[in-house]
Amino acid sequence: MLPNSPSDAVIRAATPDDDDAIGRIVAEGDAVADAQYLALVRAQGVRLSVAVADGRVVGFAGAADLVEATMLTDLFVAAERRGEGHGTRLLDAVFAERPRRMTFSSAHPAAHAAYARLGMEARWRLLYLSGVATGGGSLPPAAAWRHDRASLVEQWGRTGAHVSSDIVLVPDGGGRRIARLQHAEPVHLVEAVVAGLPAGTRVTMCVPEVSVLAAWAPAHDFSVTAFDTFRATAGVVLAPDLHVLDPGLA
Ligand SMILES: CC(C)(COP(=O)(O)OP(=O)(O)OC[C@H]1O[C@@H](n2cnc3c(N)ncnc32)[C@H](O)[C@@H]1OP(=O)(O)O)[C@@H](O)C(=O)NCCC(=O)NCCS
Repeated sequence: MLPNSPSDAVIRAATPDDDDAIGRIVAEGDAVADAQYLALVRAQGVRLSVAVADGRVVGFAGAADLVEATMLTDLFVAAERRGEGHGTRLLDAVFAERPRRMTFSSAHPAAHAAYARLGMEARWRLLYLSGVATGGGSLPPAAAWRHDRASLVEQWGRTGAHVSSDIVLVPDGGGRRIARLQHAEPVHLVEAVVAGLPAGTRVTMCVPEVSVLAAWAPAHDFSVTAFDTFRATAGVVLAPDLHVLDPGLA
């Protein structure tokens, strides 16, 4: 048994009755899991689990079974219950019988220890890039998305995204987030977005540091505002032409 482990701690599937508790726990981790987010991940088939101890929800995890691997989408433990093994138990439950694993992890030291124990080694950083549109051009034309993750792109489309064959632009506050870009030559698509939006519009995107876009960005007034680390078990790789992705849903 883990040190200080409450004897009655259990992991079970989350139900909508847990949503308020999940929202509070995730907020303590400086993130948001509101009704809209939970509806999105449930619609994408993400398996949501909670840790319950002393009759209360004390932790929350989400995992999606993707083509590449099972991806951890969320992992949060209530601030006053950290270090008791709940995060470890949640991870063991969502990854049980699933040896191909991946996640985009924050810098939290407890998360790193737990992910390494499950065989997920750090590969590369996912850079959060932010820049500004210049205007004067036109966006890539609206068209059917021609890659995998069609249901995710459809869901973004229903909530106001501009969907083209290789790029998805999601409204984000007053700006736009490039949520997904899949193409062997990504630079001309980002340049079209920067020219196609009204001058001054904030443009953000999450880019693997190994992508040509990461090299292109600083010379075009995009700066790095944060990063996550892609961690995966041996043999798990993402499509080489996936140049912008969503750190929560890949
Ligand atoms: C990350 C988090 C989920 C871990 O949950 P937890 O229940 O506190 O973790 P556990 O008690 O199961 O400990 C997990 C591992 O981290 C170690 N650990 C725990 N607290 C630690 C700390 N403050 N610093 C370094 N290591 C720590 C444990 O010894 C254990 O290591 P082991 O697997 O080698 O035995 C929790 O701290 C959290 O919610 N953090 C804020 C949100 C966040 O950063 N989530 C991760 C997103 S990637």
